[in-house]
Amino acid sequence: MFDPESFVENAVNKLKLVEGKVVAAVSGGVDSTTAALLAYRSLRERMIPVMIDTGFLRKGEIDTVVKSLRDLIPIEVIDARQEFMNALIGKSDAEVKRKTFREVFYRKLGKIVSEVGATHLVQGTIAADWVETAGGIKTQHNVLLQLGLDPEKLYGFSVIEPLADLYKDEVRAVARYLGLPEEMVKRQPFPGPGLLVRTVGLVTPEKVELCREANHVVETYLSKMGYSQYFTAIFENEGDENEGVKRYRARATGVKGDNRVYGGIVSIDWDLEKIESIRGLVAKLSAGDVTHVMIRLSKGKGKYSIAVRAVMTEDFMTADFARVPPEKLREIKDELMKLPEVGEVLYDVTSKPPATIELE
Ligand code: XMP
Repeated sequence: MFDPESFVENAVNKLKLVEGKVVAAVSGGVDSTTAALLAYRSLRERMIPVMIDTGFLRKGEIDTVVKSLRDLIPIEVIDARQEFMNALIGKSDAEVKRKTFREVFYRKLGKIVSEVGATHLVQGTIAADWVETAGGIKTQHNVLLQLGLDPEKLYGFSVIEPLADLYKDEVRAVARYLGLPEEMVKRQPFPGPGLLVRTVGLVTPEKVELCREANHVVETYLSKMGYSQYFTAIFENEGDENEGVKRYRARATGVKGDNRVYGGIVSIDWDLEKIESIRGLVAKLSAGDVTHVMIRLSKGKGKYSIAVRAVMTEDFMTADFARVPPEKLREIKDELMKLPEVGEVLYDVTSKPPATIELE
C-alpha cells in the first residue's frame, strides 16, 4: 500500500541535497504542482516556480491556477505565446508538433534557469509519461532523461523528477497530503502541450482559438459528471463518405499492442440511445487502420469538425469512452454549432486502445 507520508519524507530529504537555486515548471496540473510543492517544502526560497503561457492553455487557465495556488506557492507567469506560435504555425505532423513544442518549452526554461542563476529544473514527470514515451507511443513534452537526452548539454540544466516512479492515483495522494486544494487534486489532467494536441493537423491561430472556445463549452457542460477527462479536438471538415461512413483527411493517434499508430478518423450516424451497440463496428473499423470512431451529432458544411471526447480511466494507460447522456450531448452539440465555422460536431466512442485519449 502506497504511503504518501513516507514518500514525502524521503522525497524532501533527497531534494535537500540539491545545491543552489532550482526552477520548477508548473502547469497547474496535479503532477507538476505536486512536484513544485515538494520542492518548495524542501528548498523554500531557493525554489522559483514559473508557469509558462504557451498560448495553448485553456480559457482562463492562468488566472485559475495562480489564484488556486496563491496561498501555497508564489508563481511567476512567463508569456511565451509568440515564441510557441512562431515555431508551430504551419506545422501539421503530430510528432513534429510535439517535438517542436518540447524544444521551445525547454529552450525557454533554459533561458529562465540561466537568468535566475539556477542549475536545476524540477518537473512533474510521472511513470505513465515516460513508459509511453520510451515505448514509442508518443513524445511527451516532459520526457528527456528516459530517452537518453541530456538536458545539461542541450539546455544547460539538470532535471529533477521527484514523481517519476508514481502513477496518477499515488500523485493525487501525495498532493492531498501536501495540502493542495481538493478542486486542484481532482482537476482533470491537461497535457503539457495543451490545446496543441487537440488542434489536429495544421496549426493556425484561428484553429487554436476555436479549439479553446470549444473546450470551454465542453468543460462547462461536463465538469460535474465525474469523467476522468473531457475535452474537444478540432480538425478540418474534409473527407469522403462511403456507405454512411465518413473518412476524414485528418489523422489521429492510437495504440496497438505496444506501438503507437497514426490512423484514420471516421464518423457515422448512430442512435445515441443505443450507444453500447456501436462497439462491434468500432472493433471492425479499428482492425483496419482506423484509430478514432465518432458518432456524428450534427452535419453541415462549415470548415471545421469538432470532436467531443470524454473518458473514464484509472491510470490513463487504458481508458473507456464515457456514456454521456444523449440529452447532454445534444445540448453540447447545439452550443458548439453556434461557434464560427463549425460544420459538424462528433462524439468519440473509441476506447484506449485502439485510440489514445488525446487525438495527437
Ligand atoms: P494519451 O493521449 O497518450 O494520453 O492516451 C494519456 C494521458 O496523458 C496526457 N498527455 C500528456 N500529458 N504531456 C503531458 O503532460 C504530454 O505531452 C501529453 N500527451 C498526453 C493525456 O491528456 C492523458 O491524460
